[in-house]
Amino acid sequence: MENMSFVVLVATEQHIHYAQQICDEMEASAKARGTGIARRSPDYVKQKMLEGKAVIACTSSGEWAGFCYIETWSHGKYVANSGLIVAPPFRKYGLATTIKENIFKLSRSKYPDAKIFGLTTGLAVMKINSDLGYEPVTYSELTNDEAFWKGCQSCVNFEILKSKERKNCLCTAMLYDPAQKKMEEQKKKDNEKMTRNKRLFERWTSFKQYLLLRKSKMEKIKNLITF
Ligand SMILES: CC(C)(COP(=O)(O)OP(=O)(O)OC[C@H]1O[C@@H](n2cnc3c(N)ncnc32)[C@H](O)[C@@H]1OP(=O)(O)O)[C@@H](O)C(=O)NCCC(=O)NCCS
Repeated sequence: MENMSFVVLVATEQHIHYAQQICDEMEASAKARGTGIARRSPDYVKQKMLEGKAVIACTSSGEWAGFCYIETWSHGKYVANSGLIVAPPFRKYGLATTIKENIFKLSRSKYPDAKIFGLTTGLAVMKINSDLGYEPVTYSELTNDEAFWKGCQSCVNFEILKSKERKNCLCTAMLYDPAQKKMEEQKKKDNEKMTRNKRLFERWTSFKQYLLLRKSKMEKIKNLITF
């Protein structure tokens, strides 16, 4: 197991025969954790593969190891990287991290202006999301698309979500907002420029002080020589 190597790539029609196994594992894992899941059918998973909106991981011998797919909401304004699953024998090898990095890159290239969000109760997913630049947000920051919230109906905690009028539930909401990231990057650049300018100004001031000091010294010496 130590030298286990994986192939992680955008899923295609070559991978549709894994769809049933993926869905079975999603359901079994959710049961084992006692948590909720937005249930998906093998046909739905196959469709994602055919659309180039899924990332799959397999071992070098062709055994299925992990999966994740892209969903879009509010006419592409919001993207969710959903259904992250790693087959139990291959957990804790950093595979979920690699899959999420790949699906995140795919989402950014397909939908560069979309906000990318996720709902999760899992610490591992929170860690991975946070490393990718997601931040925790309230549910009000997420899509209003009814189709997205409909997915929560198959979750064991749906009654809680309903009783909280969709403002809260057991899942933590996390969001990557490209517009906000762009603003933060610009602010960082401006601050760096300001710091550079401040340093230049300080150097220039001290040089000027040095010149003035030298001039006054020279004048003193000149006066001494004259006397
Ligand atoms: C959650 C899951 C995808 C993690 O897969 P994985 O390949 O084992 O994850 P990684 O090895 O990439 O670990 C990522 C990070 O999470 C941590 N982690 C992994 N499993 C964890 C767990 N059960 N509890 C807490 N932290 C965990 C790892 O230590 C690592 O942190 P680090 O980078 O600080 O070392 C996998 O356990 C799984 O498929 N679970 C069932 C389905 C599920 O929960 N999906 C998420 C739905 S939102």
